[in-house]
Amino acid sequence: MRLRIAAGNWKMNMDYDEGRELAHAIIKETKPQPGTLTILGTPYIHLKDMVEMAGRNSEVKIAAQNCHQEASGAFTGEISVGMLTSIGVEYVILGHSERRQYFRESNELLSKKADAAIKGGMKPIFCCGEALEIRNEGWHERYVKNQLVKGIFHLEKDDFLKVIIAYEPIWAIGTGVTASPEQAQEMHRMIRLAIAERYDEATAEQTTILYGGSVKPGNARELFAQPDVDGGLVGGASLKAESFLPIIEALSQSRV
Ligand code: PGA
Repeated sequence: MRLRIAAGNWKMNMDYDEGRELAHAIIKETKPQPGTLTILGTPYIHLKDMVEMAGRNSEVKIAAQNCHQEASGAFTGEISVGMLTSIGVEYVILGHSERRQYFRESNELLSKKADAAIKGGMKPIFCCGEALEIRNEGWHERYVKNQLVKGIFHLEKDDFLKVIIAYEPIWAIGTGVTASPEQAQEMHRMIRLAIAERYDEATAEQTTILYGGSVKPGNARELFAQPDVDGGLVGGASLKAESFLPIIEALSQSRV
């Protein structure tokens, strides 16, 4: 049985007090559900506090939103895997489309970041997803598969099993336009088949594949009910307990 996950991606939101308040509201309401996890992807200023706050609730884990591929050195403004693990952060979001677009992160760079994260004992949440014009031109499957091949399919099986994949079509991120459950399922199926082809059936069955892009309380249940959708990576709706808690709840209710 693969892990089902509701992950929040706070992006560059929440000052120190706001972040603590939000995390507190989520952690105190998140009830243990076997086989499910809640992950909070927070800005760096929150990470240490969040790890301590979540420590009391083993259902809640903390993710950074990026890491550098090198262990240390003259990289002003960057953060290393060793720094993150030194405060107990277990997960790291890699290759979010905003990092790819605004910070020019390439598949090649992301493969190095994935290596660094895994070598340092972290679990990457590896994002992939196509822009609208690629979908309109009909080569979205090939595009996403290439992101996986270049970014993470070089990993050995034992390492690959530490990766969580997030399929996030760019046209659905922050736009209010969600992929339909059928569109999400189709892409998640394609991703799972690609994993089976590269590794094997058992590895594909064990890999958690999240959907991201305008997940809301009103659409989460239907999306999470798809056989290959194992939860969500949630941006906007993860910034308020009133909208994130029902999404966490939808994950356990839609269990397949
Ligand atoms: P959104 O963002 O839920 O606000 O669309 C998702 C994401 O970027 O991870």
